[in-house]
Amino acid sequence: MTDTPIIFSGSLHPHLAQEVVSLLGTSLGKRELNLFPDHEIYVEIQEEVLGRHVFILQSLGSNPNLYYMELFIILDALKRAGARSLSVLLPYYGYARQDRINKPGVSITAKLVADLLSAAGTNYLIAMDLHSEQIEGFFNIPVHHLSSKILLISQCIELGLENVIVVAPDKGAIKIASAYAQALQLPLALLDKERINVFQVEMRLFLGNVKGKTVFLIDDMCSTGGTLVKAAEVCMELGAKKIIAILAHGLFIENAIEKINQSPIEKVIVTNSLPIHDMLARHPKFHVVSIAPLLAEAVSKSIHSN
Ligand code: R5P
Repeated sequence: MTDTPIIFSGSLHPHLAQEVVSLLGTSLGKRELNLFPDHEIYVEIQEEVLGRHVFILQSLGSNPNLYYMELFIILDALKRAGARSLSVLLPYYGYARQDRINKPGVSITAKLVADLLSAAGTNYLIAMDLHSEQIEGFFNIPVHHLSSKILLISQCIELGLENVIVVAPDKGAIKIASAYAQALQLPLALLDKERINVFQVEMRLFLGNVKGKTVFLIDDMCSTGGTLVKAAEVCMELGAKKIIAILAHGLFIENAIEKINQSPIEKVIVTNSLPIHDMLARHPKFHVVSIAPLLAEAVSKSIHSN
């Protein structure tokens, strides 16, 4: 039995997993992941994990159905192979936005996922920038909730803070935006968003004054880009000077990158919690900040507390 942990990666974001193991001075656990002809997932663990502390990194970007199922099967395979503990690293928690009953007849998928992760054998969860804090409470296992704020704030400081206002594009973003405003000692403005459908949002200024200011537009995530682009347009109409968007998670679904490119947004600072599209990596408007050091530190800390 060895105390040295072993880290496996799911198939969505091996690049980030590789960065994490490189920082920890180790290498990824060997496994085979394949699809049967009917698209059932096949997992084979090709390392000795008996009695070992095991970490599995999986991000859940586009197609969370596939990647969650893959994660559950990896966990099950590791449990059956006798791993001593199973810690899941979820840089992006898919299904997190459905975290409450907002109308009769809907599911709380964030809670369902928490139950499924535990049922599959997870003993410990390391998550990043959860959509809402109540998600931590959906688990009966310890949750280490990391924040990329520390990394993104230093990017904001590098950009300069003169004549800057922090803007929350909707009510859901007030908490995160006010945390940035407080840390950077900047004023805060708030937009009110009404979602017409999954692709279309309406917005108006609710609080604050963006006239003549550089706007730091803060949200936890960008999916189709509708929210950010609309918020940027509204701020520009109200006389803002320039717009910089700061995000923890970049899903960039459909033509989001194109939409942002054609919008008044001058720069997007985003973490690599989700895989970075080649187009985005080369794009001068986008600046990607790696969360690998935070994940590596969290793994290292949890090893020492085990
Ligand atoms: C909403 O609750 C989130 O914080 C984001 O504002 C939203 O998911 C962004 O979605 P989209 O990019 O499709 O407007």
